[in-house]
Amino acid sequence: MTNLKIPSHIGIIMDGNGRWAKMQNKKRIFGHEKGAEVAEKIIQYSTDIGVRYLTLYSFSTENWKRPKDEVNFLFKLFIKYLETRLRKIISKGVKMRFSGNLSELPQDVQKSCKKIQEISKDNKKLDLIMALNYGGRQEIINAANNAIKNGKSEITEDDISLNLYLPDVPDPDLIIRTSGEIRLSNFLLWQSAYSELYFTKKLWPDFTENDYLEAIKEYTKRDRRFGGIGSDENANR
Ligand code: IPE
Ligand code: IPE
Ligand code: MG
Repeated sequence: MTNLKIPSHIGIIMDGNGRWAKMQNKKRIFGHEKGAEVAEKIIQYSTDIGVRYLTLYSFSTENWKRPKDEVNFLFKLFIKYLETRLRKIISKGVKMRFSGNLSELPQDVQKSCKKIQEISKDNKKLDLIMALNYGGRQEIINAANNAIKNGKSEITEDDISLNLYLPDVPDPDLIIRTSGEIRLSNFLLWQSAYSELYFTKKLWPDFTENDYLEAIKEYTKRDRRFGGIGSDENANR
């Protein structure tokens, strides 16, 4: 553990709940239930190892394409977690925040989100960001439109960065995706320009603290050049 570089901001695309359930001849919703338990463990572990921001991709703007029953189940699960398990987690210094177009969500989901955000707003240990009805393209369009509303006729990089849903949150250092899919699926498109990407075949309900640590170990080995020259070359100059 000693030489691990802990990323300041980790984003996770928690994928594979449906396939996990199918493998055990269960309905997809069982996978979501197990997935929520795993998320809770990973949040707890993130606070233990000193991650400062954790963004969990929980519902994408494209997930509305799923059967109505599944979508409704997910919303019920979010409310249940926000009202119970996450309440416990925020008592340990976690600040709950949300990223996405919340106004399109059912009223009771919006209410639970606002409540927990308000209760935890002064916490400083970990910013836990739930990406809910989130789409990276929509976020960029929204930012550009905000800049135009503020009188801009030509958009700069800062105009986008400063008008994102959560402009104070630094770009993710590491993005993890489970389930073997090698894509971003509209997650943090603007912010991921220089993120380190880590893909694992593990399905989200099977993901453990140890798998998380493996991802961080791999991140520790990466040389982040940001378009410059490597740190080794710098040392030899
Ligand atoms: C991720 O698991 C959870 C959400 C998108 C809400 P999936 O439900 O996408 O699981 P698979 O990809 O179908 O296995
Ligand atoms: C991405 O997973 C969205 C979330 C994890 C919330 P999807 O399962 O929706 O992504 P695709 O459809 O496989 O790209
Ligand atoms: Mg999926």
